[in-house]
Amino acid sequence: MGKIHVFDHPLIQHKLTYIREVSTGTKQFRELVDEVGTLMAFEITRDLSLEDVTVNTPVGPSLSKVIAGKKLGLVPILRAGLGMMDGILKLMPNVKVGHVGLYRDPETFEPHEYYIKLPKDIEERDLIVIDPMLATGGSAVAAIDFVKQQGAQSIKLMCLIAAPEGVAEVQKAHPDVDIYLAALDEKLDEKGYIVPGLGDAGDRLFGTK
Ligand code: PRP
Ligand code: URA
Repeated sequence: MGKIHVFDHPLIQHKLTYIREVSTGTKQFRELVDEVGTLMAFEITRDLSLEDVTVNTPVGPSLSKVIAGKKLGLVPILRAGLGMMDGILKLMPNVKVGHVGLYRDPETFEPHEYYIKLPKDIEERDLIVIDPMLATGGSAVAAIDFVKQQGAQSIKLMCLIAAPEGVAEVQKAHPDVDIYLAALDEKLDEKGYIVPGLGDAGDRLFGTK
């Protein structure tokens, strides 16, 4: 069973509060989601392994550390996942990015695919699938299905806010995937929105309705 990690760092929690607030406008919403993306990337990469290298300081040799091991990959679920992407790339600018385009049918909540483009060597990479919202879990499960079909073997899912229903779906379909969140909320409403959540992440990020 995949583990759930809720990042309780005060900066993440503070910024998430203003992301939730209905009066926060598009510009500030986008900036805050970007900043929380960076902060969550900092937390999610804590377990990256390090290897020794020697560098020369102006004073002499220093046995130091650099990140070792497998290459990383980022997979934003379009379109709201794009809101977290740049914030993560600020910390890891060389990471390869794959895109999975999905939209959720407003009546059935079923995800529909419209675009997939992934790095070729996906099977060699540790992937982070990103989407601000994990509601019914349909979109995240489908996105992880797609990347696994292309050979991905190591996947983490990072979202701002999840509902218990979505977490359970991902854990059932993909028990090898750990889930990283800024908040685990109470429930879904009858329209499949997370309560209290933040509303429609894509619309708030891009100023659509
Ligand atoms: C939202 C959100 C997730 C999905 C979550 O996307 O960004 O991808 O819904 O819901 P689920 O867990 O029930 O599948 P949406 O379909 O609204 O598309 P958008 O990102 O293009 O706005
Ligand atoms: N998608 C969103 O953007 N928000 C929700 O609460 C649920 C699905």
